[in-house]
Amino acid sequence: METVKVENVKKTYQLGKTFVPALNGVNFNIKNGEFTCIVGPSGSGKTTLLNIIGCLDTPTEGTAILFGKHDVSKLNDKEATKLRRGKIGFIFQTFNLIPVLNVYENIEFPLIIQGISKEEREKRVNELIDEVGLREFVKHKPEELSGGQRQRIAVARALVTKPELVLADEPTANLDSENGANIMRIMRELNEKHNATFIFSTHDQRVIDMAKRIIKIEDGRIKEN
Ligand SMILES: Nc1ncnc2c1ncn2[C@@H]1O[C@H](COP(=O)(O)OP(=O)(O)OP(=O)(O)O)[C@@H](O)[C@H]1O
Ligand SMILES: [Mg+2]
Repeated sequence: METVKVENVKKTYQLGKTFVPALNGVNFNIKNGEFTCIVGPSGSGKTTLLNIIGCLDTPTEGTAILFGKHDVSKLNDKEATKLRRGKIGFIFQTFNLIPVLNVYENIEFPLIIQGISKEEREKRVNELIDEVGLREFVKHKPEELSGGQRQRIAVARALVTKPELVLADEPTANLDSENGANIMRIMRELNEKHNATFIFSTHDQRVIDMAKRIIKIEDGRIKEN
């Protein structure tokens, strides 16, 4: 099955009277279970593309079809939120963790929003905590942890809902090479174990080396696929 079909996506941002073209007609398909890296120079459109696929932004022209049936250009806010919460996990460069919640609570949070029972939440959160190696830090707040540990919380939080699709925008950008490699190893293990589809962007050659497929983007166009 095609998890994502990107069809002639164009995105133009307007800044006052100037129009900034970010994507100039992008086409590609992502199949279920892929582990694909989007590579391209700064400003080439990677974040814009991930945001459109993740229903955080809408295309100016063209569309993306998610899970074979959801047309992102036709979703209203409510439908987009529902789809994101139910099927998509996000890992942002800046982590976006909740500072007042500890590690356990940060990972549990999306499950509370989904209305999952306490028993099931406990099971899933504990499973993920072990998978990302944060057992000894469950009671810590994000600010008491290193960048790599915080990134692992973000990975666990993105995966605890068992999303079909995980979108990660430069997931290792704030990490040293060792922590970056660890995060990639965890993501790849989870891809293989849960068959979740991963699409991530990066500038980092070591991350590129771990991808199973590479899509190159330049000036808002796919250069190699
Ligand atoms: N909200 C916005 N308003 C106006 N222009 C924008 C906006 N977001 C992005 N752009 C422009 O769109 C183009 C693509 O930006 P995008 O953030 O997608 O690039 P990127 O490939 O993610 O770059 P980086 O590697 O630096 O993160 C750039 O020229 C950028 O300046
Ligand atoms: Mg970006």
